[in-house]
Amino acid sequence: MYKITVVAGDGTGPEVMAEAKKVLNKTAEVFDFKLEFNDYLIGGIAYEKFGTPLPDETIKAAKDSDAVMLGAVGDWKYDTLPPEVRPERALLGIRKELNLFANLRPAIVWEELVNSSPLKPENVSGVDIMIIRELTGDVYFGEPKGVDVINGKKTGFNNMIYNEDEVRRIAKIAFETATVRDKKLCSVDKANVLDVSRLWREIVIEVSKDYPEVQLSHMYVDNAAMQLVRAPKQFSTIVTGNIFGDILSDEASMLAGSLGLLPSASLSDKGVSLYEPIHGSAPDLTGKDVVNPIATILSGAMMLKYSFKMDEAYKTIEKAIKDVLKEGYRTQDIMSENKTLIGTKKMGDLIAEKIK
Ligand code: IPM
Ligand code: MG
Repeated sequence: MYKITVVAGDGTGPEVMAEAKKVLNKTAEVFDFKLEFNDYLIGGIAYEKFGTPLPDETIKAAKDSDAVMLGAVGDWKYDTLPPEVRPERALLGIRKELNLFANLRPAIVWEELVNSSPLKPENVSGVDIMIIRELTGDVYFGEPKGVDVINGKKTGFNNMIYNEDEVRRIAKIAFETATVRDKKLCSVDKANVLDVSRLWREIVIEVSKDYPEVQLSHMYVDNAAMQLVRAPKQFSTIVTGNIFGDILSDEASMLAGSLGLLPSASLSDKGVSLYEPIHGSAPDLTGKDVVNPIATILSGAMMLKYSFKMDEAYKTIEKAIKDVLKEGYRTQDIMSENKTLIGTKKMGDLIAEKIK
């Protein structure tokens, strides 16, 4: 019996989460284990009820569970709120509270969907990249930050900062991950300009000494952004800082064809992990039964794999998704000619049905 704290959040978050639960419940039935889902509030919906986007009871429940599943946060109606209570702050807050410094974002191109990518099929076919994004440091959390009047001018500033321990622990995860993949790791930085990147590179090289079997390369982030669309198959495992990882993972989703396909796992060195799709809350699509639940369903599958070590169950869900796609079913974001257009719920139903 596993206790899961579910924070579905705003916009289409609850819709995709419902489908993930559906598929996980079916998987639990088939594989004979039990999942207890406990719903808590996060984001704008939490702000409306508690005056804060990340209530204490949500943090407490998260810490006291076996894993956390998150939908998405944010809505344009909260765009005018002060920064401390904006929904996005809750996401950063829960990452920090749970010390989720390692964010695994797999970008895998499924054969069934090579034509959904805006890039040439021959370039994306076979792509299987694991982006490892540092998640609790960098310019996202660095101090000092703010908007002040400096020399008579309004001035905004953030601090891109990493200490050696923060780099070392994410580098270790990256090398471990590369070791069980195909032993190729590319560290992405901006060491030609940024001091913080020079330290990043120095520490990554230091950690590489413990992993002589892993072939390490370095790439500047601007070049990496270009190479990712030019020749994505050159990449296997990528490790990078918080902001570069944020940007490159959105870019990588277009290899797969849609933001609605990419899951993620956020891990700490001990304790609870959190699973969420990389996409946002898509408020304009809320309640229309059109968004793609696959990223959230896959995030649930990652939970089974990483938190509960259920490799078989993970593979079964992945295969169920592939089978449904093979039969030609598509949500709007991955729709193409001669395929069958279906909605969020139907996609969840079909995937759940395939699990046996
Ligand atoms: C992501 C998102 C978040 C981030 C936002 C919503 C705060 O873009 O998870 O990639 O920037 O980390
Ligand atoms: Mg992002």
